[in-house]
Amino acid sequence: MIRLGVNIDHVATLRQARRGQEPDPVAAAVLALLADADGITVHLREDRRHIQDRDVHLLRPVVPHHFNLEMAAVEAVTDMACLVKPDQVTLVPERREELTTEGGLDIITHQLPIGRAIERLHAAGIAVSLFIDPEENQVAMAHKLGVAAIEIQTARYSEARTAQEIDLQLATLRRATACALALKLHVHMGHGLNYHNVQAVAAIPGVEEFNIGHSIVSRAVLVGMERAVREMKAAIQQGYEERP
Ligand code: PXP
Repeated sequence: MIRLGVNIDHVATLRQARRGQEPDPVAAAVLALLADADGITVHLREDRRHIQDRDVHLLRPVVPHHFNLEMAAVEAVTDMACLVKPDQVTLVPERREELTTEGGLDIITHQLPIGRAIERLHAAGIAVSLFIDPEENQVAMAHKLGVAAIEIQTARYSEARTAQEIDLQLATLRRATACALALKLHVHMGHGLNYHNVQAVAAIPGVEEFNIGHSIVSRAVLVGMERAVREMKAAIQQGYEERP
């Protein structure tokens, strides 16, 4: 079985557009779990552009297992992770100006701060996964750093447009997976996966977990639109009928 971690960041993006209270990502997490999500993923960004500290604290007791916190390997967020104790932390790169996480974490260049964060998270009893590009030297370094899992960055695959490029990127994902499995690392995948491109990645032997957000939240907005409009029409009608 492959786990699906539903990333609910963009429910919070919508809330933050008005800095109000809805939609509440915690409510979205409950609904996702009722729909058989295997876990919930959120990215607590340093600029707090979507998920807030309050969300992370509330989600912990609401998500009984596979609560996956994505974060940069910086001290303040590591402090918070050690306090909240998600089931898993996925360390990701982060630059303020980017629209979304671009590229995997370069764990070779940033070995020292990443190693320190891993040590602290492990000491707090939190499993650590590293979000890396599908490159053998990065996979080997993940093994050296002693983590249980890697999440392979699937953006290059997701963004491939020609059949030839898609095949090439899939082969890269397969090679990186095989390399990780040989080192006894658990393999997760994520970024840019949608209802059309996820199948080929799910077919790669050994892949255990997906973390998918944007395509699920996008679809939720559209499949929920009809009902939401009908309910608003009914609310207006109710007032209308109460006119003197
Ligand atoms: N995995 C990681 C490590 C991510 O940073 C993201 C984006 O926040 C995702 C998965 C989900 O990507 P998407 O929203 O494109 O499905």
